[in-house]
Order: sequence, then structure tokens, then C-alpha cells
Amino acid sequence: MSKKEEKNKISGSEKMEKIVSLCKRRGFVFPGSEIYGGLANTYDYGPLGVELKNNIKKVWWKYFVQDRDDMTGIDGGIISSAKVWEASGHVQNFKDPLVECKKCHHRFRPDKLKDASKCPDCGGGFTEPKSFSLLFKAMIGPVEDDQVLAYLRGETAQNIFINYKNVLNSTNKKMPFGIGQIGKAFRNEITTGNFIFRTLEFEQMEIEYFIKPDSDWNKQFEEWVDYIHGFMDVIGLNRKNMVDHEIDKKDLAFYSKRTIDMEYQFPFGQDELWAIAYRTDYDLTQHQKYSGESMEYFDDEEGKRYIPHVLEPTFGVDRTVLAVLSEAYEEEKLPDGETRVVLHLAPSVAPYKVAVFPLLKNKPELVAKAREVLAILKKEFNVFWDDRGNIGKRYRYQDEIGTPYCVTVDFDSLEKGTVTVRDRDTMKQEAVEISDLPIYLYKKTSGLY
Ligand code: GAP
Repeated sequence: MSKKEEKNKISGSEKMEKIVSLCKRRGFVFPGSEIYGGLANTYDYGPLGVELKNNIKKVWWKYFVQDRDDMTGIDGGIISSAKVWEASGHVQNFKDPLVECKKCHHRFRPDKLKDASKCPDCGGGFTEPKSFSLLFKAMIGPVEDDQVLAYLRGETAQNIFINYKNVLNSTNKKMPFGIGQIGKAFRNEITTGNFIFRTLEFEQMEIEYFIKPDSDWNKQFEEWVDYIHGFMDVIGLNRKNMVDHEIDKKDLAFYSKRTIDMEYQFPFGQDELWAIAYRTDYDLTQHQKYSGESMEYFDDEEGKRYIPHVLEPTFGVDRTVLAVLSEAYEEEKLPDGETRVVLHLAPSVAPYKVAVFPLLKNKPELVAKAREVLAILKKEFNVFWDDRGNIGKRYRYQDEIGTPYCVTVDFDSLEKGTVTVRDRDTMKQEAVEISDLPIYLYKKTSGLY
């Protein structure tokens, strides 16, 4: 790192604060229930956040489900029978330890405390650790005494296990094959902080990949690790910022025989972004036992029946949003001494791929031409229209929300049929024929996707 870069570098906590503030200011993420004083660990996504999040989910689905012949998908329900969670072991085992400060009654996870002997808020002593369930209960039925207990899903994975037979019976899938799913999961987390990193309600993108029990699971595990690394390129995360952390046998989740946590260097420190686990035949065997339904697969090539084993790549959508924003955020010192805030988002995930401006708002012929260009581009891209303020201010705004290209309609557009295209990262401008514009932008923004 050069001396100049070193000088411009901001600390992790400062960067985190700036990202949180940008998210609020520009409409990526808002604190949950804000007008009522907020609700800890909940957030709402704003107009830009929903676009970014949808793009991440869209490219994930394409890369992991649609691009592979051995994959298919489902979209299961959020509320599920309590029996699902009894069978999966979550009712018994999905628990975190908790200590309570005897003085201020704040609660903490002892494994997340820097000093486990005294309260970080008031210095008080702690109660003995107790374990508490992360599952959210949902009571079904209007009459209180007669309600049926269900759970909000603690992971999307269980929908896949309980539907694996339905998928097999309704498709032509053969072993090995996988089922992907994107959707909300809920956990009664007590560790607070770090913005959208750990929340009560979040989205997961999960795959259960079913394999033959006697196949080389480790080899397939490693192939998935490589394939997952490829997804970093798709969404613009630098592979150097990710560390594969092999989880110690003693720390494995109750269902796992091997897990790698893929840890990203977030501004607040290195922590789990994604993971891959070998869940063996644990879940299907449990569901067979509890439901009485056979979970066996008849392998017609080998002429035998078995319960498949499972590899599970899992991804948090919200953590991916945070990683993508952290990677993209830069405060760049310009030669004229000014600083510009820029999000170098990959075009695959940027909320808007392009912005269109008329050079001047008060020239109807420019505005009309710019609207024509907007209509052409809208057929292909999500396009931002802006005719406020001056061009410099519009560029700064687009830089801050990560729009890769700005197209200005000027007098040359009327005379020569060209527009000025400005690149967010290099800030270079070039003239492009309006008729070539969709192809030009398509080539620039499609990348891997
Ligand atoms: N099905 C396996 C499973 O749920 P996990 O490691 O507990 O494994 C998977 O969660 C992913 O879900 C994590 O890697 C993380 O990205 C995301 N995640 C888990 N808890 C979260 C929370 N409270 N807030 C946001 N994301 C969370």
C-alpha cells in the first residue's frame, strides 16, 4: 500500500459507520420499526437495497440452480409443523448459551464476550450460563387454549429434506442431484450489533446436494468448495478477502461431520459469510424415523435402495449484501482535492446498471431525446432517470449508489445521434451512437451474467 493510500485508509469501525449511514441516507437499509424507537436486530430494505438483494438472489439462482443440470429448486413455507423441528433435532439442540448481568439484566452469549467475567455494559457479574432455544414459536389458531404449536423455520434446509421425495417423484433427477431454495429464516438471536450481519429474520440461499452413501463425499465436498469460490467472482467479491475455516470436530453443529465456514473480512473483523457442511444421512434418517415415510431412494443403475447422504452449501443473503457493500465502498481522493464516495459494485448486482440524464432540464428537445433513450434502455436494463441539479452532482449521486454507467444526452445527440457515456470507476467519458447503446452497455455490464 502506498503512503497516499495508507493516509486515505479509514478504520474498520469508521468504515462500518459510513456504510450504515450511506445505507440509510440513500435507501439501501433502514432500521426496523424505526418510528417506534426501533426493534433491535431487525432491518427493512429500501428502494436500492431491494434491488441489490434481488440481484444477488437472481445471480445465485442462475449460477447454482439454472446453470447446472444436476440442480433444481423449490420454494417452501416459512411456518412448519413442530414435528419437522423435533425430527431435525432443532428443538433439542438448536440452542445458544446465555448469561444475564445480575445488575443491569442485559443478556449475552458468553462465547461472544471479550471478558466473560464481567458485563461490558455496567461491569456487573453474570448468572450461570443457561441454554435457550433459537427457534421462534408460532401459535396457530384463534382460540388460545386450542392453539397448535408450529415453528418459523430456523433454516430453509428442512423444507428441502421434507420435500425431497416429492421432488424425486415429480422430476427426472437421478443421484447425485441437488435442490436449491431461497427464503426467510428466523432465529431468536441475542448477540446484537454489526448491522445486518446477525438479525432475527434473514434470508438464506441453501442447497441440499444428495449423493450416494458409498461415493467419495470428500471429493464432492471439495468440488463444491471450488464452485462456491467461483460465485465470489460473479458478485464482485475479491477472493483474497475470504478465508476457508475448517471447523474443529468438537465445534461442529449437531448434524455435521465436516464443515468449512467461509469467512469474509468484514470491516468489523473476519466472520462467517457462507458455509458448506457434510450432513451425512442424518436429516433424512431422522425424518424417516419421525414421519414413518420411507426416505429411501431406489438407484436403478445399481439396483439397490439407500438413504442418500447430503452436502450442504449455505449462504446468508443479508451477509452477502453486507460483504458486497463493504468490498465496493471507497472514499476516493480526486486530483482536485475533493473526495468522492463510490460503490464499485459489480454490474451483476448494482441496483441500476445505467442512469440517463438530459444535459439541461430546461431544453425540451434535450429532455425529449433523453426520454427516447430512456425508453430504449428500459427494455433491457434497470435505468435511473435524473434531471435534477447539475451533471457533476448527478455523477456523484450515481457513484454513491454504484451505478456503473451514466449516459448524458447533449446537443451532439440532437445533431449527430451520439450520447456521452461515463464510466463510474475510471470516470472516463466516450461518445457512443444511440443505435449502438444497448449492445455497448450489454457488453459492459453482462460480465459473467
Ligand atoms: N442450514 C445450515 C445453516 O443454517 P448456519 O451456519 O446456521 O447453517 C447458514 O447458517 C448461513 O445463514 C450463515 O452462513 C449466514 O450467512 C446466515 N445466517 C445465519 N444466522 C444468521 C443471522 N442471525 N442473521 C443473518 N444471517 C444469518
